[in-house]
Amino acid sequence: MRKLSAFNARLFLSAALAFALLSARGAAGADAPPVRVGIIFSYAIIGGAQGRAIDAGMAAWVKEHGDTVGGRKVELIRRDDGGMSPDNARRLAQELIVQDHVDLLAGITFTPNAIAAGAVSTAAKKPLLIINAATSNIMAKNPYMSRFGFTTAQMTVPLAKWMLQTGLKTAIAVYQDYGPGIEAANAFQSAYTGGGGTIVDEVKIPVNNLDYSAYVQRIKDAHAQAAFVFINASGGGIAFVKAARTAGLDKLGITLVSPSDVVDENDLDALGDQALGLIASSNYAIVHNSALNRQFSADFRSAYALQNGGATREPTSVAVTAYDVMHAISNIVAAQGDGPIDPDRAMTTLRGMKFESPRGPVAIDPDTRGIVQNVYIRRVQRVAGKLRYVEIATSPMVKDPLER
Ligand code: PHB
Repeated sequence: MRKLSAFNARLFLSAALAFALLSARGAAGADAPPVRVGIIFSYAIIGGAQGRAIDAGMAAWVKEHGDTVGGRKVELIRRDDGGMSPDNARRLAQELIVQDHVDLLAGITFTPNAIAAGAVSTAAKKPLLIINAATSNIMAKNPYMSRFGFTTAQMTVPLAKWMLQTGLKTAIAVYQDYGPGIEAANAFQSAYTGGGGTIVDEVKIPVNNLDYSAYVQRIKDAHAQAAFVFINASGGGIAFVKAARTAGLDKLGITLVSPSDVVDENDLDALGDQALGLIASSNYAIVHNSALNRQFSADFRSAYALQNGGATREPTSVAVTAYDVMHAISNIVAAQGDGPIDPDRAMTTLRGMKFESPRGPVAIDPDTRGIVQNVYIRRVQRVAGKLRYVEIATSPMVKDPLER
């Protein structure tokens, strides 16, 4: 058996403790074997921030609903793929299926890892519920894959329309040169120029780049009204915003817009006034005004503190997605009772699933298995002294424009 790293062991213990403390459900399926779910995620990136967020998102679900469904235990087995590494993701998916006998897979941070784990899911017929990887084209070849996060193209089309409506008619497109950046740029090109906007320049950033001074200079030189920027969660968005502000892009009247958080909401306060005015589209805003979001946020905060020695953190898109993945897993188990989890029946449950999420209403498209959800255009503002992404426009129930 693979030994748990100290980090994973700590995670496992804190999660197990949280489950033991927080759940107490009936015994109808107590004799049925547990449903085993393998979670593959890039736990180590950005100091573990996103990994801790998904763990607390899942624990918030358990706090509200317990860790059993109809008395049958749902067991989470966590594995860290270490970052953008398709080989690790493939190996972990195989090990989880062959050695740990998981019924379902979930997680995946990066698109290349999703492609690799997706091939294993397809060959083994194990449903894979995607939490983060945000490229549309991971789905078509993988019939047991379903998406609960977002795609960059899905976040881009409403953003491009909003830009045109608000008079931002010229833009430079700046994006990381791999799947989600390329799809974001393609979606931007068609929605923005199709609606009458002009893209004056296009700049591709190597995915492991963290020094943005040369790119900021290109933005300056383009003299456009806006810069459309895709930098992923581990791509150094904070360094980018600092470079942009130091170069005075805001003083030149250049609006920074991005089709997902260039800076995690929890890091906005560290950026201070430099964060003010950033525009980002997303499927979630902490300030989203719903009873379910208030409940989820409270449960996320307490689960996070319990798992992290009292530390505080606000929920973000990836945390909500992990919570929703638990919802979907519960529906799959509820539909199948005590027997082995049948992958085709699981996909039938997922296709066409509709539910209220802390982010708003969501649905899984029955044909593409992609997620249909509200896209919020948000601007960084101060709310009660804290910097927050505040919803300023909503596009209801947006389907990914590229999945088929
Ligand atoms: C991706 O590789 O699909 C990806 C990773 C991190 C993000 C967004 C997309 O923040």
